[in-house]
Amino acid sequence: MRSLQDTTTLHNGVKMPWFGLGVYKVQEGEEALQSVKAAIKAGYRSIDTAALYQNEESVGRAIKESGVPREELFITTKVWNTDQRNDSVLEAFETSLQKLGLDYVDLYLVHWPVKEKYKQTWKILEKIYKEGRARAIGVSNFTIHHLEDLIADAEIKPMVNQVELHPLFAQPELRDYCKKQEIQIEAWAPLGQGRLLDHPVLKEIADAHNKTIAQVILRWDLQNEIVTIPKSVKESRIIENANIFDFELTERDMEKINSLNENKRFGPDPDNFDF
Ligand SMILES: NC(=O)c1ccc[n+]([C@@H]2O[C@H](COP(=O)([O-])OP(=O)(O)OC[C@H]3O[C@@H](n4cnc5c(N)ncnc54)[C@H](OP(=O)(O)O)[C@@H]3O)[C@@H](O)[C@H]2O)c1
Repeated sequence: MRSLQDTTTLHNGVKMPWFGLGVYKVQEGEEALQSVKAAIKAGYRSIDTAALYQNEESVGRAIKESGVPREELFITTKVWNTDQRNDSVLEAFETSLQKLGLDYVDLYLVHWPVKEKYKQTWKILEKIYKEGRARAIGVSNFTIHHLEDLIADAEIKPMVNQVELHPLFAQPELRDYCKKQEIQIEAWAPLGQGRLLDHPVLKEIADAHNKTIAQVILRWDLQNEIVTIPKSVKESRIIENANIFDFELTERDMEKINSLNENKRFGPDPDNFDF
């Protein structure tokens, strides 16, 4: 991995950038428009949104105004839980496409494993994939048992599993399982939603490399073959976060960071969420 535009190859052959911009809690309108444009200008080629984030229209506008050809970008969106419960997954997909102003997405994800619904949802995603309207399909917040259950009946294996993952919640078992299944792991909240940015061990490593803590964490992701999508609405941080291709963490740095794992989630537990 030597540049921001380097890619991992998903099990269906589609290339996905290792690095992208997340836009959770980025406001529809100027904020989303300017952040996405700043990221693309800085060389980002992957944007992670969701129907839930309610900013697909601005993401779509930023894509158009960026001047970068559509085929050079990798756009992810997700189907929200209510649409799984209401059996309106296909309609939700159409709405996302329309808001984004696109005729296909690069990756469409099941946002959460809604009990007794996610297998049915997956069948619709398989249909969308076969129609060529999503170049890849995947899941999010799936644990090993959700994946085993899904794969047992699936025609197409998910290409990606996007989960909470950061040094305090490193998910080693899930990462091993996904690697064996050729499912690409992608980290949400890679920076612990900002909560990890004063950690003393990370600070020491960052100082040694003359980098910031955010850069060290994001570099740890890449060296672990984890796709990462940090969010920022500030151009200087968007640039800072991507400036991680000019240094390498040593094996000892990696071990130190690995040893920080406390199995500590900041977000909801996929086995026990009520939204
Ligand atoms: N699938 C899911 O269920 C799920 C759940 C959550 C998130 N996600 C996706 O994953 C993406 C990333 O996760 P996240 O947004 O929750 O958290 P995150 O990327 O770990 O952290 C974002 C927070 O860190 C701050 N930040 C970013 N870069 C920084 C830097 N260099 N220095 C200091 N602070 C910095 C941001 O503030 P500023 O914006 O003010 O810079 C923001 O408050 C989301 O945007 C979304 O696309 C998916």
